[in-house]
Amino acid sequence: MKLPYFYQQFLGFLAVIVLLMTVTIISLVHFGRESALRSVENRLFQYAESVTDENIKYDDLLTIQQLLNDQGVSFFVFDEQGALIYPFLSSEFEARVAPEYVDRLQTGENLSLITSQEDMLGNPRETSLIYSPYFDEQSGEYAGFITVSSPVSHIDAQMDDLKENLFNAFLLSAILAIIMSAIFARYQVNRVNRLRKAAHQVAEGEYSIRLDHKERDEIDYLSRDFNRMVSALKQSQEEVNRQEERRKTFMQDAAHEMRTPLTTINGLLEGLEYDVIPEKQKLRSIHLMRKETRRLIRLVNENMDYENIRSNRIVLNKQSIPLEELMEEIKEQMRDMVRDSTNKLIIQDFEELIIYADYDRLKQILVNLIKNAMQFTHHGTIIVKGNKTADGIRISIKDTGIGMSEEEIRFIWERYFKADSSRVNTKYGESGLGLAIVQQLVELHKATIEVESEVDKGTTFTIEFPDTDLM
Ligand SMILES: Nc1ncnc2c1ncn2[C@@H]1O[C@H](COP(=O)(O)OP(=O)(O)OP(=O)(O)O)[C@@H](O)[C@H]1O
Ligand SMILES: [Mg+2]
Repeated sequence: MKLPYFYQQFLGFLAVIVLLMTVTIISLVHFGRESALRSVENRLFQYAESVTDENIKYDDLLTIQQLLNDQGVSFFVFDEQGALIYPFLSSEFEARVAPEYVDRLQTGENLSLITSQEDMLGNPRETSLIYSPYFDEQSGEYAGFITVSSPVSHIDAQMDDLKENLFNAFLLSAILAIIMSAIFARYQVNRVNRLRKAAHQVAEGEYSIRLDHKERDEIDYLSRDFNRMVSALKQSQEEVNRQEERRKTFMQDAAHEMRTPLTTINGLLEGLEYDVIPEKQKLRSIHLMRKETRRLIRLVNENMDYENIRSNRIVLNKQSIPLEELMEEIKEQMRDMVRDSTNKLIIQDFEELIIYADYDRLKQILVNLIKNAMQFTHHGTIIVKGNKTADGIRISIKDTGIGMSEEEIRFIWERYFKADSSRVNTKYGESGLGLAIVQQLVELHKATIEVESEVDKGTTFTIEFPDTDLM
């Protein structure tokens, strides 16, 4: 069944209120009538008691009767045989009391009942009737009983009044309940609709939506979670956009990077095919082709490597590595690059330091960072330093190069990022993948990497490797 939320709320509130009021009114009327009847009965028993209590004379009875007559109360006294002894009637009168009632009266029990007769106009007339036994003073034997009766129609009149009043109150509060339920339901529905509208806008790609909320109830918490969800969505959307942007630039860069060596290789191959390259130049051409091919391979490999690390397809082979030896090897590897540069590379304080890492990957990390330092420094110094910390090893790579702005630092870990596109195509071959790979590898080692940099002053990368794995 399709029922709008507003009506669900509205009918829900209304049903509860109406039900509550109905139950209250019914029990009030019922209870009111019952207690009124009880009090009439009690009064009648009191009359009966006062009549039997003392040694009442006939005259006294007459006086009492006169007093009670005004209230519509009449009483009759019967002897133990059930014969009427008061008031005196000319004819014999026997009480028509059921035998089992008589038995009960003889045991001293009081009886009460409501009788209904029709009055002269045919309207039902209810009477409260009580039977009260009395006993002989001396012998204490059952001596007869007294009946006292009083009409109770006034109670019904009172009840009718009460019902009318309650009905009016019911009507009034029903109207109030309808108005209040409608207001409250509208309020709740508006809150839900606000969320709905916002969700719709988000679905349309509007991520700047924020809902106000006061932390009062579940809908407020929902709004708060909604806000969180939207900012998370916004962030990942931005991330996706950034990645997409980088991918596009990378594709352009890669195409650009690939086109040059491929054209070179193609030209050289053509020359060889038609034998237009002089014999002396042939070896040089082949060298050139190999160099260009290596560049292409590097580009492809680095991309593959990055993807593999990212998708957890790399397993680290961790071991204890004497850093001094590793640094020697790196120095050896960098020799040509250092020689060709205008920089000085100083490697110090690695004696007796043992690091727990994957040998090849650690080397890859350090080479990448040192290469970057060399690449972005001119006529400067690069200092690579080792340090033992409380729970691991710290290695820092400090250069006196061009540095980076804070804005740039935020993005350097991203794939394909190059602070300055014009730096593309230096002789070290840039793809903007170096630091992205470094970061993934550092993470795999459960190590941390930090960077401090100042434009035109220099940059320091600091990596801290834990040695908890050793224990
Ligand atoms: N030591 C440094 N000094 C100044 N800028 C740096 C330094 N290291 C990295 N950067 C900046 O961060 C960018 C990203 O570096 P990353 O190593 O990821 O890429 P790349 O060196 O440009 O290319 P690749 O390493 O893939 O050949 C660099 O282009 C550069 O702008
Ligand atoms: Mg690099």
